[in-house]
Amino acid sequence: MNESTSTVYVRRRAELARLIGPDGIAIVPTASEKRRNRDSDFLYRHDSYFYYLSGFAEPNAWLVITGEGETILFCQPKDTEREIWDGFRLGPSAAPEQLALNAAFSIAELETRMPALLDGRKTVWYPFATHPGLETQIGGWLSSLRARVRYGALVPEQQGDLCRVLDEMRLFKDSGELATMRRAAAISAGAHVRAMQTSARMLRAGQEVREYHLDAELLHEFRCHGSQAPAYGSIVAAGANACVLHYRADNGLVRSGELVLIDAGCELDGYASDITRTFPANGRFSGPQRALYELVLASQEAAIAVTNSGARFTEPHDATVRVLAQGMLDLGLLDQNKVGTLDDVIEKRAYFQFYMHRTGHWLGMDVHDCGAYLEPGEIGTVHERKDPLSGETIKDRPARILQPGMVLTIEPGLYVRAAQGVPEQFHNIGIRIEDDAVVTAAGCELISRGVPVAVAEVEALMRDAALRAR
Ligand code: GLY
Ligand code: MN
Ligand code: MN
Repeated sequence: MNESTSTVYVRRRAELARLIGPDGIAIVPTASEKRRNRDSDFLYRHDSYFYYLSGFAEPNAWLVITGEGETILFCQPKDTEREIWDGFRLGPSAAPEQLALNAAFSIAELETRMPALLDGRKTVWYPFATHPGLETQIGGWLSSLRARVRYGALVPEQQGDLCRVLDEMRLFKDSGELATMRRAAAISAGAHVRAMQTSARMLRAGQEVREYHLDAELLHEFRCHGSQAPAYGSIVAAGANACVLHYRADNGLVRSGELVLIDAGCELDGYASDITRTFPANGRFSGPQRALYELVLASQEAAIAVTNSGARFTEPHDATVRVLAQGMLDLGLLDQNKVGTLDDVIEKRAYFQFYMHRTGHWLGMDVHDCGAYLEPGEIGTVHERKDPLSGETIKDRPARILQPGMVLTIEPGLYVRAAQGVPEQFHNIGIRIEDDAVVTAAGCELISRGVPVAVAEVEALMRDAALRAR
């Protein structure tokens, strides 16, 4: 880690120390390694909070930050034999200089050192409900400290949720984070372009195309550009599979004349991207496909137009719903005689049959990134209402006000399952269009538009690829 890189982590740790106050102590473990089956582990991925504060990606590590700003790492000790099998370990001797910390110890010393580190602190901060067993482990340290009160030990009397503090910090991305996210989105956009082109080219050449062929193209592009892994399980859904919201790339046949929905984004240096495109497998939209696609795109444009600093987080969703609901009436997906006017459709949530998810989420180190969706200063303002579909009582609180540096997705969709009363020409069509937006002072910056969305541009891209196949 060079000087300027470590400065970022030093700054974040100092800010955290300031927020927890001088009588606090923060404890942050990284993620544990996970067994996949027998001797094989899942690809290791560090904990996002831990990495945000340390930039350290090895497993078996804990970070401790005192309210005075002292920073201590527990990490894997150097071990020639283990390093032959598993790879390089930084080790406690090199860690303080390399990571700009005050001290580092072997992870083997965690249990013995933690009670003393907790002694005299008023509040112990750690991420609640994120690491199974963490509460018990910290409880054990507190209890061994309590056993020493006769000798003058002072046991913390409060526990605080570190997620609440770190979520707020992570919600606002700094310029380095935004630069990484722009690069991640650009790589993912290139991967979507590649998948579109491959679909058109293979079908044109008369080859059988399966969902996994397109998944392979995504992975190829991610890895060729330095991404460590997909940020989440890629969805490559051909035809009716697109109506299954959590479908994963499988072996479905990609048929000429059907649409393909791809929701895939790479993770780059700890940051996610999240892009969805829906395109005709052969490069030409049919009339009904195009009608639905244009509607989803119009709803996304409406959402983008209100994604501004000062708007509420819910405004893009509300804008999307209005456009989609009107389109459902216009296209006959909803029968006005049954569901009433546009306002009735929105009020009774009749659109939910075809649009059943929210229009976006925070994006950052985690694909569904942390950060409060409610405006912190207004959580006491509660408005109760009955949900028109479930009858449940819903507590509405004022949504978060968007500010520069926040990053969110804008991802409207339409999913038309075959059902009575639904025009047959739209059956089994699933469409989502998803872009990544950075809130700016002037509006928002879409960082994922390296892959086109306009019908003519998607068709042109795929036509060129298919022609090159000849
Ligand atoms: N890919 C996950 C999502 O779109 O929310
Ligand atoms: Mn998303
Ligand atoms: Mn997505």
